[in-house]
Amino acid sequence: LNYRLLNALEGKNYSGRPPIWLMRQAGRYLPSYMALRQRYSFLDLCHTPELAAEVTLLPLKLFPFDAAILFSDILVVAESFGRGLRFEEEKGPIIERPIKTAQDIEKLPEPNAEESLSFVAEAIKLLLPELSVPLLGFAGAPFTIASYLIEGQSSSSLSKTKEWLVKDPDSFHNLLGKISNLTIDYLKMQAKAGVCAVQIFDSWAHQLAPRHFCEFSLPYIKKIVEGLRDLALPTIVFSRASSLHAEKIAAISPTAISIDWSGNIAEIRKKLPNITLQGNLDPFILYGSKESIEQEVGSLLSAMKDDPRYIFNLGHGILPTTPLDAVHQLCTLVHG
Ligand code: CP3
Repeated sequence: LNYRLLNALEGKNYSGRPPIWLMRQAGRYLPSYMALRQRYSFLDLCHTPELAAEVTLLPLKLFPFDAAILFSDILVVAESFGRGLRFEEEKGPIIERPIKTAQDIEKLPEPNAEESLSFVAEAIKLLLPELSVPLLGFAGAPFTIASYLIEGQSSSSLSKTKEWLVKDPDSFHNLLGKISNLTIDYLKMQAKAGVCAVQIFDSWAHQLAPRHFCEFSLPYIKKIVEGLRDLALPTIVFSRASSLHAEKIAAISPTAISIDWSGNIAEIRKKLPNITLQGNLDPFILYGSKESIEQEVGSLLSAMKDDPRYIFNLGHGILPTTPLDAVHQLCTLVHG
């Protein structure tokens, strides 16, 4: 096994170069993925262990990444609550029966991950013998999952969710608690099946005012990180507000923080010398010229040079129209 990523998570990557993997590396920028999507829907790929395993391996055939991330989606957790999930070509995810009332929350089932999400454990088991790099599992943060359950689809303002949490914080906490319980169960199942570390994606946290982030998002990420503590499973927290809230996230002691593209990771390192940091190249840099990519990646690499607690990644997921040549160049620069 390639230990570079695990060493960086432990704060002892002395190999002279950081490990690299990319959020959303198993996705639409890959022609091989698009070819599979001609034959299968996105949810069929997620639900069929053989296909999910195959998609997980696709990026590793093209690029020398130091980790694999399981192909799935954060919204399979929302699906487990029985509110219906489908993906539409232009709109993205749709929750068919969004949560509308406090009673809807009361009535939510308490699903068991081993039953409702067993296809994920099976995909992990199929993958392990095929991999020479560590496999990362993941889940959405409770706030981000709650926002999908309430909005019913991606929303740039989260207006229903934000209205709810100011009008009826108690029922919103009740929802977050239920999602957290399932998520802990789900990540434990992933660990038991064999993932080496997990990442929590809080993709919508940047919509929250700082005080609301501290009340409605962070405590539930903390609950998950603490719920996994006795498994000795490294945890990485990505939030689209992680550069703003890095110190508060560090205080809940995950293994690593994945810094979003809007922050200065070298400045964050000065404030947080002892935690692993991951990130944070702006995904749009990969649309630039060869020269500008070289310059931007070079300045990030030199800012984090010889840092034993650093993992190279983007500051958010790779975009679907990213040129493959740019990803090759990125890997060459990090490896060089
Ligand atoms: O990182 C990886 O490659 C692993 C797989 C992965 C997917 N989604 C596959 C996917 C992971 C880790 C996710 C996480 C995810 N899903 C997040 C958090 C990360 C982030 O980007 O902020 C969120 C918010 C979702 C929900 C989601 N899934 C949306 C909003 C969409 C539609 C828009 C979009 O970006 O595609 C999806 C669909 C999705 N998830 C696809 C893939 C490969 C594309 C589906 C297709 O083939 O049409």
